[in-house]
Amino acid sequence: MSPRRFINLFPKKYFFLKLFNFLKFNFSRYTGFRFVNYLPITMDVEPTTGCNFRCTMCQVSSPDFEAKNMKLETFKKIIDQNKQLIKIKLQGMGEPFVNKYLFEMINYARKFGVSCEIISNGSLLNEKNSDNLINEKLAKLTISIDGATKNTFEKIRVNSNFDVVKKNVENFSKKIDKRIIRPHFSAWSTIQNDNFEEAEGIAELCRDLGFDDLTYQLFLTGWGKSEWEEKNNEKNINFNNEEVLKKFNYIKKKYSNKKFKIDIFKENILNFNKKCSWPWNSSYLGANGDVVPCCIVADPKVKNMGNINSNSFKEIWNSKDYRELRENIKNNKLNDFCKNCYSEYK
Ligand SMILES: C[S@@+](CC[C@H](N)C(=O)[O-])C[C@H]1O[C@@H](n2cnc3c(N)ncnc32)[C@H](O)[C@@H]1O
Ligand code: SF4
Ligand code: SF4
Repeated sequence: MSPRRFINLFPKKYFFLKLFNFLKFNFSRYTGFRFVNYLPITMDVEPTTGCNFRCTMCQVSSPDFEAKNMKLETFKKIIDQNKQLIKIKLQGMGEPFVNKYLFEMINYARKFGVSCEIISNGSLLNEKNSDNLINEKLAKLTISIDGATKNTFEKIRVNSNFDVVKKNVENFSKKIDKRIIRPHFSAWSTIQNDNFEEAEGIAELCRDLGFDDLTYQLFLTGWGKSEWEEKNNEKNINFNNEEVLKKFNYIKKKYSNKKFKIDIFKENILNFNKKCSWPWNSSYLGANGDVVPCCIVADPKVKNMGNINSNSFKEIWNSKDYRELRENIKNNKLNDFCKNCYSEYK
């Protein structure tokens, strides 16, 4: 972890509460208990399911996908009940900037020593929004870069404008350049058949745009939905192929330097020996307060553990559903929505 990432994550408030919770988590993490006596260390909180893009591989593009914004009071309730959190990712299925309370959310979380990260499509990262993120001391901003050329970028990221995203990124890079306290600035590239050939170009572009790092995600998920799994499996590259891995390792070596790092993320390669850890250390809070097991599921229609407006998070975290999910993962008796994460079912 870079010194900046560490400083950005270091809790300035409620330190001992967070430390104590973290120690309890560490103490019991290897037991795989169904009932846990601590609360999550991190969370994904979805500010909105609304989006101005319709990316070809994203479930937000389904005609029946509903756009909802999280209310500020729901967000406050989540933080009030989870002051032990070290970090939240303000992200989900949607574009975070669509929610007009985004900056108030970051501000509120930071009052409780919870550092915030955002992943965005970059289209709404204008002057004002950029300044707000810096002023609210966002810990990390990630922008999705799925193409090195206008053609590919706009083919995948339907409704986008490559030039606008590039300009916004350039402006943000300039703003944070030479600042000591500033968000870590990352690029995320979801590799699929349509942009595989541009992988090297994406590294070059991201380095030149001033990102601190780039992660290639070599796998598309289907969010536990058969229609999306089928559709996205067709778009998936074969990341187990030696030549493919060689290519990404070559790019990594060629473009990584002191100021720019490259990572390769080969899906959540889980198996019966390397089990999912989500139900023990994190949770996903949907835009209307629904609690979902993880960001792979994301849509409460697939699995809903409860709603923060009906029960406290603490009750939901050790509810029958959560205890069953932990038990199933521990015993390798996976729920259907989990199977796509495990190599044994591929
Ligand atoms: C769902 S988006 C939400 C944030 C924001 N709207 C964005 O595009 O960055 C978060 C990330 O998921 C990626 N993504 C979209 N569909 C995906 C899929 N089927 N599998 C894996 N990642 C996906 C996007 O490219 C993006 O990098
Ligand atoms: S911009 Fe993000 S949320 Fe919107 S459709 Fe694309 S991947 Fe999905
Ligand atoms: S195994 Fe299940 S809980 Fe874990 S990430 Fe996959 S879908 Fe989510």
